[in-house]
Amino acid sequence: MEAESVMVTGANRGIGLEFVKQLVKLPKPPRFVFATYRNENSIQDLKDIQEKCKETQVVLIQMDISNCNDIEKAKKVIEEKVGDKGLNLLINNAGVGIDLDILSLLQINPATRWDTSGMKVPEQAVVNISSLMGSITELTDSQSKELLKAFSYRISKTALNMAMRVIALTIKDQGVLVVNMCPGWVKTDMGTEHATLEPSESISAMLNTFSNLNESHHGAFLDRNGNTYPF
Ligand SMILES: NC(=O)c1ccc[n+]([C@@H]2O[C@H](COP(=O)([O-])OP(=O)(O)OC[C@H]3O[C@@H](n4cnc5c(N)ncnc54)[C@H](OP(=O)(O)O)[C@@H]3O)[C@@H](O)[C@H]2O)c1
Repeated sequence: MEAESVMVTGANRGIGLEFVKQLVKLPKPPRFVFATYRNENSIQDLKDIQEKCKETQVVLIQMDISNCNDIEKAKKVIEEKVGDKGLNLLINNAGVGIDLDILSLLQINPATRWDTSGMKVPEQAVVNISSLMGSITELTDSQSKELLKAFSYRISKTALNMAMRVIALTIKDQGVLVVNMCPGWVKTDMGTEHATLEPSESISAMLNTFSNLNESHHGAFLDRNGNTYPF
């Protein structure tokens, strides 16, 4: 995967942290990785990556995604770094919501940005980290009663899927690819140690899939390998 600038929200631990780890180790790493966190006491791992990085400037930004002022401040920090080029990739990993203000970080260009030569590679993309738990179609009698307890979480991810779909259709002529992706069941604080995937496996699969995303995936709900999930 190649991108000049990437923003990862909720980057201080779990899936977000693994994204930052793997992004800076790509054969052609981004020039900028904007990594957001909420609490100053939780950023030692990010600072360690920042110190070791030679090719990528890892910029740490304090941002609660439910706080509009934080989003505005983050936007200014990013604009100062990327200028007119805008942000190439937003990995909306923290929490459950997506705000159109965040989309403005991408400096949406009215001209289409799909590459028209052969495979269509988006220059700008928003990937929301969703969950199969948000799929209404997949929720059948065969699910264990234990999993039915994740009531609010399921609702929040279903809402995220809808928000993504609305945004994707709203900006469909603006050349910014919008997709939702489920990382699988990953060993993080949220996923617990019972999960089936190491963060490294899940995130390397997702980064690989990012390289193959094209116009046909706009507004889709995908698994980490790029297969379509039902809403
Ligand atoms: N792990 C799985 O199996 C799995 C499966 C499907 C989908 N997902 C999705 O993957 C994403 C990451 O999950 P994870 O497993 O890495 O969870 P995690 O280890 O619990 O990490 C969650 C991250 O999100 C941040 N965060 C939460 N609320 C926030 C807010 N309001 N503003 C800013 N940051 C916020 C946390 O920051 P603090 O450290 O400050 O709390 C932390 O960095 C989530 O969207 C989750 O729903 C995970």
